[in-house]
Amino acid sequence: MDNSSATRVFFLIWFFAATFSFCKVKSNISCNEKEKQALLSLKRGLTDPWNALSSWSDQEDCCKWAGVHCDNKTARVTKLQLGNLNLNGEISPSLLELEHLNYLDLSISNFNCTRIPSFLSSMGSMRHLNLASAGFCGLIPHQLGNLSDLRYLNLGYNFGLYVHNLHWMSSLSSMKYLDMSSVNLSSALNWLQIMNRLSSLSELYLPSCHLDSLNPSLGSVNFTSLLVLDLSVNLFIHEIPNWFSNISSTLLELDLSSNALKGEIPCGVSNFQNLEHLVLGVNYLTGKIPESFGQLKHLTVLDLELNYFAGPIPSSLGNLSYMWKLILEGNRLNGTPPKSLGLLSNLKHLFIGDNFLTGTVDEVFFTKLSKLKYLDLSRTPLFFNVNSDWVPPFQLIYAHMSSCKVGPNFPAWLQTQRSLKVLLMSMSGILGKAPSWFWNWTSNIDFVNLSANNIEGDVPNFLVNSTVLDLSSNHLKGQLPRLSANVRVLDVANNLFSGPISTFLCQKTNRKNKLQVLDASNNLLSGELSHCWRYWQYLIHLNLGSNRLSSRIPNSMGSLVALKALRLPNNSIYGNIPSSLQKCSNLGLLDMGENNLSMTIPLWIGEMKSLTILRLRSCGLKGHIPLQTCQLSSLRVLDFANNSLSGPIPKCLNSINSMAMPHVENYETMEYLENAGTYFESLMLVPKGEELRYEENLIFVSIIDLSSNSLSGSIPNEISVLFQLHFLNLSRNHLTGKIPEKIGTMKELESIDLSRNYLSGEIPPSMSNLTFLSYLDLSYNNFSGRIPSSTQLQSFDALRYTGNPELCGAPLKTNCRKEQESDGDTPVGKAGVTPVGKAEDDSETSWFYSGLGVGFAVGFWGVCAAPFFKNTWTSFWSVNDMNDQPM
Ligand SMILES: *[C@@H]1O[C@H](CO)[C@@H](O)[C@H](O)[C@H]1NC(C)=O
Ligand SMILES: *[C@@H]1O[C@H](CO)[C@@H](O)[C@H](O)[C@H]1NC(C)=O
Ligand SMILES: *[C@@H]1O[C@H](CO)[C@@H](O)[C@H](O)[C@H]1NC(C)=O
Ligand SMILES: *[C@@H]1O[C@H](CO)[C@@H](O)[C@H](O)[C@H]1NC(C)=O
Ligand SMILES: *[C@@H]1O[C@H](CO)[C@@H](O)[C@H](O)[C@H]1NC(C)=O
Ligand SMILES: *[C@@H]1O[C@H](CO)[C@@H](O)[C@H](O)[C@H]1NC(C)=O
Ligand SMILES: *[C@@H]1O[C@H](CO)[C@@H](O)[C@H](O)[C@H]1NC(C)=O
Ligand SMILES: *[C@@H]1O[C@H](CO)[C@@H](O)[C@H](O)[C@H]1NC(C)=O
Ligand SMILES: *[C@@H]1O[C@H](CO)[C@@H](O)[C@H](O)[C@H]1NC(C)=O
Repeated sequence: MDNSSATRVFFLIWFFAATFSFCKVKSNISCNEKEKQALLSLKRGLTDPWNALSSWSDQEDCCKWAGVHCDNKTARVTKLQLGNLNLNGEISPSLLELEHLNYLDLSISNFNCTRIPSFLSSMGSMRHLNLASAGFCGLIPHQLGNLSDLRYLNLGYNFGLYVHNLHWMSSLSSMKYLDMSSVNLSSALNWLQIMNRLSSLSELYLPSCHLDSLNPSLGSVNFTSLLVLDLSVNLFIHEIPNWFSNISSTLLELDLSSNALKGEIPCGVSNFQNLEHLVLGVNYLTGKIPESFGQLKHLTVLDLELNYFAGPIPSSLGNLSYMWKLILEGNRLNGTPPKSLGLLSNLKHLFIGDNFLTGTVDEVFFTKLSKLKYLDLSRTPLFFNVNSDWVPPFQLIYAHMSSCKVGPNFPAWLQTQRSLKVLLMSMSGILGKAPSWFWNWTSNIDFVNLSANNIEGDVPNFLVNSTVLDLSSNHLKGQLPRLSANVRVLDVANNLFSGPISTFLCQKTNRKNKLQVLDASNNLLSGELSHCWRYWQYLIHLNLGSNRLSSRIPNSMGSLVALKALRLPNNSIYGNIPSSLQKCSNLGLLDMGENNLSMTIPLWIGEMKSLTILRLRSCGLKGHIPLQTCQLSSLRVLDFANNSLSGPIPKCLNSINSMAMPHVENYETMEYLENAGTYFESLMLVPKGEELRYEENLIFVSIIDLSSNSLSGSIPNEISVLFQLHFLNLSRNHLTGKIPEKIGTMKELESIDLSRNYLSGEIPPSMSNLTFLSYLDLSYNNFSGRIPSSTQLQSFDALRYTGNPELCGAPLKTNCRKEQESDGDTPVGKAGVTPVGKAEDDSETSWFYSGLGVGFAVGFWGVCAAPFFKNTWTSFWSVNDMNDQPM
C-alpha cells in the first residue's frame, strides 16, 4: 500500500465515521414533547384524504414525520410543509405551541370556504406563509399585519377572499414575495401606495384582483426593488400611466395582459434594461410597436397579441437574440415581416397571424430558426414561398397557416416534419394532387385541417388516426377512409367521395370507432343506410345530406343515443321516420328535407323534447300537422314547407315557448366545441323568399315555414303570442279568414309571407308597428281596404300587394275613396288595381320613381334612401354580421 492509497483509505474511514456520528447526533436529539402533542392535535383536527400524515404517530420522533422539519441543534419545529395534500377540516390553534415555526405551507388544500384562522397572526417567527389554493373564503384577517418578519406570503387562488383595505400590510416591511391572485381587492383603493412602501418587494402578483385603476390616488410610485409585476386580468380601462417609467429599472417581468388598457406603450418601458418578459396582450393598445424595444437585450418573451397595434413590425426586434416567444398575433400590423426576425435563432414560438402583413416569407427567412416549434402565419395576406425540395431547419409541433398563401403546390416540406401535432392550412390556395406519402403521414398528427383548398385526386384506403381530420371543400375522390379509435371528427363535406355508404359504416376496422362528428355531406355516396349504426354510438353530429343515398331510415339509427344533430337532406330517403328514433332523446336538429318520405308526421314527434330545429321541407309529408308538434317547446325552426299537408294550422302553436318567450340559446345542438376541435351546423332556410345558408347565426333564428302545402282554415289568432318569431311563411296554401288582429305584437317579425291564399278582410293596423319588417308578401288573396301607413308597409314593392282587387293606398297606385275612409276604403276604379306588369325580381323601389324625373330619383336615393331602407339592411346584416360575434 503506497502512501496515497493509505491516505485515501484513511480519508474514507474518516468520512464514514464522521457521517455516522452526524447521523447519530441527529437521531439522538428528538423533538420537543409539547410540540409533538401540538402536532398530533393539529392532525386530529384535519381530514387527511390521502393518508399523507400516517407517519405522524406518538411512537415516532416528530422531527422525522412527513412534512415536519426541526432545527438540527435545538430540535424545535421550524417548518411545516403540508402543501399539495388536499387536507381539509379544521386548523387547530395548537399550532401556536410551535414557537419557532417560521415556514408554513398549506397550499392546495380544501378548507371548504372557511376563514383564514386569525390566530396565525400570533406566530411571530413566521417568514414564509403559503395558503395558495387552499379553499379559504371571506375577509383576510388584518391581524396578519403582525407577522412583521414575513418575507413570503401567498394567498392566491382561493376564490373567495377579499379585503376592506390593505393598511395592515404596511407593516410587512420585509416582504419580498407577495401573491394575492384572485383576491378581491376592489375596496383597497390605495393598494398602489401600500405595495410601493414595501421596499423589499421583489415579486408582486395581483392578477384577477378586480383592480380598476393603476393611477395612484396620491403621490407617485417607484417600486424600488421590484423584479416581477403581474397585474393581468384586472379592470384597467385607461392608458398605461407614466409612473411605469420611474419604477425599478431592474424589472425582469411585466404582465399587464387581459385588461382594457388604451393608448400607446409609454416610451419608459424601453428603460427596463433587464426586462425578460413583457406581456401586454389582450388590451386596446394602439400606436406602433416601439423601435426602441430592440434595446431590451434580455427580452425572451414579448406578447402583444390581440391589441390594435399598427404599422410594421420593427426590424430592431431582430436584435433580441434571447427571444424565444414572440406573439404579435391579432393586431393591425402591416408591411412585410422584417428579415431580421430570421436572426432570432432561439425562437420557439412565432405568432404573427391575423394581421395585415404582406409580402413573402421564404426559405432564407427561416434559415436560423432551427428551434421553432410553434408557427402561426394564419389570416394574413402573406405568401409562404418555399421550394418543393426545401428541408426546413425546424421540427414544428404547431403550424397554423390557414388563410395565408401556401399553395399552389402541395407543401412538400411537411414530410420532413416528424413532431407535428397540429396542422391548420385551410384556405391556403393549395391546388392539385396530394402526394401519396401525405395520407399515412397524417396518422401521427392530432389536428389536420386542409379544408377549402383545391386538393384533388384519389384518396387511398388509408387509416385515419388524427383526432380531427377536416378535408372539406376540396375535390377529393375515392371511398371514405378507415378510422382508428382516435378519430373524433371527420369532415369530408363538399368533395367527390363515392361508393356505398354501407361499406364505410360496416367495415370491420371501423367498428371500434369513437367518432363524434361525421360530415360527408355533398359528395357522391350511394346505397342504403346500413344496419351498422350500433357501431357508431359516439356520434353527436351526423350529416350525410346531398348525396345519392337511396334508402329507408333503418331502425338501427335509434342506437345513436348521443346524437344531437341528424341531417340527411337532399337524398332519396323514402318510407317513414322509424319510431326507434325516439331513443335519440338528445336530438336537437332533425333535417330530412328534400327526400321522398311520403309519410304522415309521426305523433311521437311530441316526445322529442330537445328538438330546436325540425326541417322536413319538400319531403313528401301528407296528412295533418299533429297537435303533438306544439309540445316541442324548444322549437325555433319549424319548416314543413312544400309538402302535401292538409287540414288546419294547429291553434296550440302558442305553446312553443321558445318562440314566445326570451330564452337561453341552446348552443349545444348547433356546435361542437371540444378539445377535439370545433364544428358548426349550418342549414338552408328560406327566410325572405330566397334560400339562405345559416351558419353560426343559426342559433338566433326563429322561423315557421308552412308554405306550399294544402293547409286550410284560418290563421290561428293564438300565433300572435309568438313574440320571438322572426320569419313567418304561410304562403301558397288554402287559408281563409283574416290576418290575426294582434299580429303587430310579434315585434321581432322581419318577414311575413301570406301570398297565394284566400285570406280576406283588412290588413290589421297593428302591422304598422312591425318596425323590423323588411319582407312582406300579401299578394293574391282577397284583402280589402286601405294599406295601413308606416315606414315599412309603404316601402314594399306594389307587387307584394297585387292580386287583391279590393286593396288600395300606397304603394298601390289605386287611391282609396276619401268618403269611405272611416269604414274601410275601397279603391277608385279598377284600372289601377294591379301595378303595370313588372318582373317579380324588379327592384323593390320601382313603384317609387315611376313618373318622377331621373334627377329627383338620384337625389332622393343619395340623400334619403339610407334611412328609408335602413331596416332592410339592418336585418340583412343581422343575418350576416352575426358571423363576427364572439361565440
Ligand atoms: C445521545 O445519546 C447518548 C446515548 O445514546 C447519550 O449518552 C447522550 O447523552 C445523548 N445526547 C443528547 C444530547 O441527548
Ligand atoms: C444545521 O442546519 C443548518 C441549516 O439548516 C446547516 O447550515 C448546518 O450545517 C446544520 N448543522 C449540522 C450540524 O448539520
Ligand atoms: C363544506 O361546507 C358545507 C357547508 O358549509 C358542508 O355542507 C359540507 O359538508 C362541508 N364539506 C366538507 C368536506 O367539510
Ligand atoms: C397584533 O399586534 C397588535 C399591536 O402590535 C396587538 O395589539 C394585537 O393584539 C396583535 N394581534 C394579534 C392577533 O396578535
Ligand atoms: C368585490 O368586492 C366588492 C366590494 O367589497 C363587491 O362589490 C364586488 O361585488 C366583489 N366582486 C366580486 C367579483 O366578488
Ligand atoms: C420611492 O417613493 C417613496 C415614496 O413614494 C419615497 O419615499 C422613496 O424615496 C422613493 N425612492 C426612490 C428611489 O425614488
Ligand atoms: C401506408 O401504410 C400502410 C400500412 O401501414 C402501408 O401498407 C402502405 O404501403 C403505406 N402507404 C404509403 C404510401 O406509404
Ligand atoms: C395513432 O395516434 C396515436 C395517438 O395520437 C399514436 O400513439 C399512434 O402511434 C398512432 N398510430 C399510428 C398508426 O400512427
Ligand atoms: C302599436 O304599439 C303601441 C305600443 O306598443 C300600442 O300602444 C299601439 O296601440 C299599437 N298600434 C296598433 C295599431 O296596434
